[in-house]
Amino acid sequence: MNGSHALTDLEDPLWVKLPTGRYPIYVGYGLLEKPQCFEATLKGKKVFILSHPEIARIYLPSLEKTCYAAGATEVSHALVPSGDYHKTLETAANIWSALLAQGYHRDSVLITLGGGMINDLGGFCAACYLRGIKVIHCPTTLLAQVDAAIGGKTGVNHVLGKNLIGAFHQPQTVVADLSTLSTLPQREFISGLAELIKYGLTLDPPFFNWLESHIIEIMQRQPDALNHAVKQACQLKAAIVASDEKEEGQQRIVLNFGHTVAHALESILDYKQCLHGEAVAIGMIVAIRLSMEHNTVDGQLLERVMSLLKTAGLPTTLPPGITPAEILAKMKYDKKHGATKLNWVLLKALGQAFTTHATASHVIQALTATRVGTP
Ligand SMILES: NC(=O)c1ccc[n+]([C@@H]2O[C@H](COP(=O)([O-])OP(=O)(O)OC[C@H]3O[C@@H](n4cnc5c(N)ncnc54)[C@H](O)[C@@H]3O)[C@@H](O)[C@H]2O)c1
Repeated sequence: MNGSHALTDLEDPLWVKLPTGRYPIYVGYGLLEKPQCFEATLKGKKVFILSHPEIARIYLPSLEKTCYAAGATEVSHALVPSGDYHKTLETAANIWSALLAQGYHRDSVLITLGGGMINDLGGFCAACYLRGIKVIHCPTTLLAQVDAAIGGKTGVNHVLGKNLIGAFHQPQTVVADLSTLSTLPQREFISGLAELIKYGLTLDPPFFNWLESHIIEIMQRQPDALNHAVKQACQLKAAIVASDEKEEGQQRIVLNFGHTVAHALESILDYKQCLHGEAVAIGMIVAIRLSMEHNTVDGQLLERVMSLLKTAGLPTTLPPGITPAEILAKMKYDKKHGATKLNWVLLKALGQAFTTHATASHVIQALTATRVGTP
């Protein structure tokens, strides 16, 4: 049997279990062509698909066909340019205008087809349109499949920082079709590896060990390795979301490991030069150095993580020309910080994260150690 068919689990999806209900995450190959993944939500519904031109060219025709096969009465779409630079309130307003002009009502369904950018933007549009319509995410990047599409965080960027305007809005279903990763540019694929590594580091030591020994197979996009990695990450994310849906407790915040620096970097670089996962990789190194200053982890873990990130082709030093002071100034706009203190997710040990405050001087020290050429 073709390995990829064996890896399509329509009967046995993963579930995100919330107090208000549960929703499935389908992970497998060829899922955009399977009406079974969609029919529970689409039967008798008017559907609006949001995507990017380059993704729509490859995947939109089959998804549209699948929507009709799943019982949709009408399917139309809008395409927005790629790039986080376009994840703005202005783009959202254009989408709302298109929905209104085409008579989409409260019973309609929005489907996102793309990476984390389109999942965030489309999720946000769905959350606000007529005070909320249903959304299905079809993530097409590794990063979105293991992270952005799960858990209901939606939003857009503001000139003062990333994801500062948003809402929680859970999807009805997540359809992570691993076949779509075959067209994902290598740099984007590698960016998603940072989030996989983050799950291992913060939540699951055996998964971290497994990643260390299977990183090459994953990078070669071998179906068995990819299927295992994505499912494991989705399971970890689903469990965290179930335990702390709106990041009100301490559980979900753990997933922000590495993101304090990452968001600042992305914002400084105008969301153009540094991919999210690349920024997260650098942010994780800074967070481990800060953890070392708290005497919770040692240099050996830093070495292991540096080595894994480097093998994966991810950066481990700050981009040249960016100063620690600049990053510190930008962090003040991070949602996770209080009015005066800098909140950080650090490591207590491999697989155990905790939140704490860090002084500006410790942060500067950890950032300085992460500059190019620092041993
Ligand atoms: N909501 C959350 O919980 C959450 C979590 C993590 C990240 N995010 C957000 O996700 C975004 C980053 O997402 P991303 O890394 O997926 O990047 P992305 O959505 O910007 O996509 C990256 C690029 O890959 C292209 N692409 C996507 N899928 C493709 C495919 N299958 N084949 C060919 N090209 C393809 C896109 O057109 C784009 O050019 C950021 O906005 C970040 O803030 C959100």
